[in-house]
Amino acid sequence: MTPLLEIQGLNKRFAGLVAVNDVSFSLAAGEIAGILGPNGAGKTTLFNLLTGFLASDSGSVRFDGRDLAGEPPHQIVNRGLARTFQLCRPFAGMSVLENVMVGCLAPRVRHRHAPRARARAILEAVGLAHRADAPVEVLPYGDLRRLEIARALATGPRLLLLDEPFAGLGATEIEPISALIRRLHASEGLTILLIEHRLREFMQLVSRVIAMDFGRVIASGTPADIVRHPRVIEAYIGRDDEVSETGEPPAGEPRGAA
Ligand SMILES: Nc1ncnc2c1ncn2[C@@H]1O[C@H](COP(=O)(O)OP(=O)(O)O)[C@@H](O)[C@H]1O
Ligand SMILES: [Mg+2]
Repeated sequence: MTPLLEIQGLNKRFAGLVAVNDVSFSLAAGEIAGILGPNGAGKTTLFNLLTGFLASDSGSVRFDGRDLAGEPPHQIVNRGLARTFQLCRPFAGMSVLENVMVGCLAPRVRHRHAPRARARAILEAVGLAHRADAPVEVLPYGDLRRLEIARALATGPRLLLLDEPFAGLGATEIEPISALIRRLHASEGLTILLIEHRLREFMQLVSRVIAMDFGRVIASGTPADIVRHPRVIEAYIGRDDEVSETGEPPAGEPRGAA
């Protein structure tokens, strides 16, 4: 079967720095996979390349059998590849509902559903219905994270890229967002690729991990394989902030991963 996403030999250089270095991997339709890596590993740059926010220097991205080279972000969204941002970027001066309605105007969905009704249904699905009329400026951080996901869902994606969906959240706020992501995967059949560096939540959520360091893919496998992989341990021990954040040693068995 043709993979839904197929990345081959992708490269991106910023001046002297190779941010994404010969990255290749594929995702099957229906998968939930994650990209793990220390800060600066090139994870967000990879998402920017996949979604047309940056042009690659070389390599290819095929989505749903089509080469995405040269396509601008809105066209890629319209092919069914949507993303969220590491830093939430709602449209200021608009309500929560209006923010989601913007996504509902994507050509791939707007002829099928009335934007307002569709936006309400999506807010319901992500647990934000009670905030529909609030201005985005008053939303607490956890709700902004949900809104970020709602705006991407509004475009009717087949593949959803989530850039650090737990960023800025406290321990008690993470579990409901994690449950939401799990539900989108299980009940909506969405293919999901997420970036996270909180090991515990991440490892419980994904079935496959692609580990990056210094722009390269250094390992790929099940969460249980990845936490034992010597190159992953090396990338995390010695220079790491991420591991201490969860208090977990990288070589430990992830709970729920066995
Ligand atoms: N627009 C840019 N211009 C120059 N350097 C960049 C730019 N975006 C990212 N970088 C650099 O590329 C490297 C990878 O960054 P990034 O992809 O954001 O890492 P991650 O998301 O894994 O933390 C970092 O060294 C970062 O400073
Ligand atoms: Mg990043």
